[in-house]
Order: sequence, then C-alpha cells, then structure tokens
Amino acid sequence: MSFDLSVISSKNILLAVTGGIAAYKSAILVRRLKDYGFNVRVVMTHGAQAFIQPLTFQALSGNPVHTELLDTEAEAGMGHIELARWADLLLVAPASCDSLAKFSAGLADDLLSTLYLATKAPVWVAPAMNQQMWAAKATQRNLNTLIDDGVHVIMPESGSQACGDVGLGRMPEPEDIARQVKLYFHQAERAIAEKFGLLAGQRVVITAGPTREAIDPVRYISNHSTGKMGFSIAAACYAAGAKVTLIAGPVSLDTPNGVARINVASAQQMLEESLQSLERGCDVFIATAAVADYRVAEVAEHKIKKSGDELAVALVKNPDIVATIAGQAKRPFMVGFAAETRNVEAYASEKLVVKKLDMIACNDVSRADIGFASDQNAMTVFFAEHYQMEKRELEKASKQEIAQQLVEAIHDARVK
Ligand code: C5P
Repeated sequence: MSFDLSVISSKNILLAVTGGIAAYKSAILVRRLKDYGFNVRVVMTHGAQAFIQPLTFQALSGNPVHTELLDTEAEAGMGHIELARWADLLLVAPASCDSLAKFSAGLADDLLSTLYLATKAPVWVAPAMNQQMWAAKATQRNLNTLIDDGVHVIMPESGSQACGDVGLGRMPEPEDIARQVKLYFHQAERAIAEKFGLLAGQRVVITAGPTREAIDPVRYISNHSTGKMGFSIAAACYAAGAKVTLIAGPVSLDTPNGVARINVASAQQMLEESLQSLERGCDVFIATAAVADYRVAEVAEHKIKKSGDELAVALVKNPDIVATIAGQAKRPFMVGFAAETRNVEAYASEKLVVKKLDMIACNDVSRADIGFASDQNAMTVFFAEHYQMEKRELEKASKQEIAQQLVEAIHDARVK
C-alpha cells in the first residue's frame, strides 16, 4: 500500500453532468481529476447537452461519453450495469434540482438515474442551481432524503449567479471538488492501513539526511547524503499504518504525506531530538542518517579570517545516535544502516552487535549504480542472532520499493 499517485490512478471516477450553466466548470473538473491521476468517464443527461457538447468531455477524459440508457452501441461497449460497477465514486457535478428529485424518488427513466440505483460506489452530489430553487422546500426535502440515504453533498457556495441573482447555489470551483475527492481516497486508504497495515498504529522514528557541523558562523563540515532513502522509508511506514516522526538533517526534499518532520542541523541536535521522541513514545527507531563522525571541537564565534597557508581545525567525536538509543532502558526495535565498500557482510554483522541493533540494512557503496544520490538501491538485511532469521537480499530497485521491503522485514522480525 502506498500513498503516492499510484493509489489514485487505480481509482475510477464516474462524473455525471446534469443540466445547468455550471456544466462548463465540469470540463475543468475532468482536467483536475485527471491531473491527480484518476480514471474518469463522463455521463451526461439530455439537459446537460444543451449547455456543453459530449465531444468536449470525450476529449478531456479520453473516454467515450455516455448519454443513453438503452443505446445499442453503448450497451455493446460498456453497458449501464458495467458502468455502475466500474465506478469507485459517482460524482454528480453539477447536480440539478431534477436529478436530486429523481434520486430521492428512486426513478430510473434515464441513464444517470439508473446508474444511481445500480452502483454500489459512494455517491457525491454537487448541487448547482438558482438560489430560489435551492431554497425551495421540495429541493431541501429531497436533499435531506439523499443525505439520509448516505449521499455526500458538496454544498453550493454563495455569490452572484448566472441568472443575475445573488445567493446560495453556485457550484464550488473544480479545484476544490477534485481536491476533496483526492482527500477522500487518501483518508479511506489511511483508515485501512491503520487497521490492517504491516505497521498499524506503530510509532516509528526515522533519522535521515546528513548532519552539518559548524566550523564558524558561515562554514560547516557535512557529507553528500540526500536523505532520499530515509524519506522513502518514512513514506512507506506511513502507508503501512504507522505514526511517523522524521528527524531530518538539511536536505531539499518535500515532507512525505502524513509524516511529522523535525528539522535539525548537527549530530548533537539530532541526538537530542531522537531522545525526546523516545520520551514521547517510539516502537521502531530507524537510523538512516549519515551522521558526521566528528564535529569541530570549538566552533569559532566569528568568521575565521584567511591567514597562513595551513589551518588546523581540531575535531572531536560525535555521539553515536543509534547506539545511544539502543542503550536506553526502554529501547524500541532498532534498525541501522551500513554503507560499506568491502567485506560488507562482516562489517555489517559487527555493527549489528556493537550498536545493539535488531536489524541492519547494508549496501555496497563501491557500486556506482546505487546508494547515495541514486534513486535506486540494493541491500542485504541482517537480523540479530536471537531472531533466527536468514539474511535477506533486496535486489536493485527504486528506493520506494526497497523501503517497502524494509517495512516487511521489520514487520516479520517483530512478529517472530
Ligand atoms: O558506524 P556507521 O556510521 O557506519 O554506522 C551507520 C549506522 O549508524 C547508521 O544507521 C547511522 O544512521 C547510525 N549512526 C548514528 N550516529 C552516528 C553514526 C552513525 O546513528 N554518530
């Protein structure tokens, strides 16, 4: 399970356009839904076709537009029952007074009203009409019936109307509707992950990126870590139902969806934040950060001036964050990383023991095609001896795929 666009791209939106001037906004709505990666098919009532041509929606959705209930050609392709089954969401926008009345009465005398009865998918309506028609008792009665029946209503907005009136009845902007649809699918998926995901309800803390050790107010020592692996793991943990805190060194990456991010610069700040996150509660600690091994012994208060041919800067060792956390009385499940250029297995196994880790993921950084700045990685995962688990080879794949396999490895070791 993941939270990127691939989730959305498998979702089918059946957009029904009914008769009303707001139908022109539905053309843009198709675009916005497609931008999010949804599959879109459009159904139009006869009334809608007085305002906008089916061809417009065909071109924008990339699919034939459905207009008739019993059209031999349409039924030979995707018939109305198939269409009803295809939909993951029936979105009626704009929803006219008439369509609301038909839905509430259970009529089935055209394609849309039939689809409404035939689909198991959630139904959303975005009513758009003259403010007097919206306020009419019959419309409000129908609306209440639909709400009772489980239909979700995207409430109309107030403002000036095409008919010259001012009041409630305008369809919200297509961007807003598309965003609400996207959010709905993300939240639905999140609810499933929180219940059934591999890390359901687990509190995961991840360190990521490089650290930056100041020399003076304008200079620092750092490394080339981009933080990509740690950020991918944060996204994969969230998708697996975990509550994720990401303690990030200076990187230029967007925070993954649903993840709480704490920015730090130095190793000491990273350690402090890691210890605090432990206080708040942590079940799994994943150390992907490329922590600087040394920091400058005494950071100069002012910019160091150019003088002699040589400059000596004394360095002192930084704390080992992952080993410090693993040494705490109430330690979480500890995952470390090792980047090696040779004797990969021997060094990784040693680190597993010395740092008191439960699991270590190791990659061979002598390979030019994986690691640091690359979008791909390959890893070997070792588990602490008492788990009695075989090492796992994670073949070369995108960092997202590797991250998902690491989530599986963490889960498998923890249920052992
Ligand atoms: O000893 P080495 O740097 O190879 O160990 C790598 C592992 O230890 C990684 O998981 C890294 O995030 C963690 N580490 C740490 N604090 C340090 C050095 C490494 O947490 N000061």
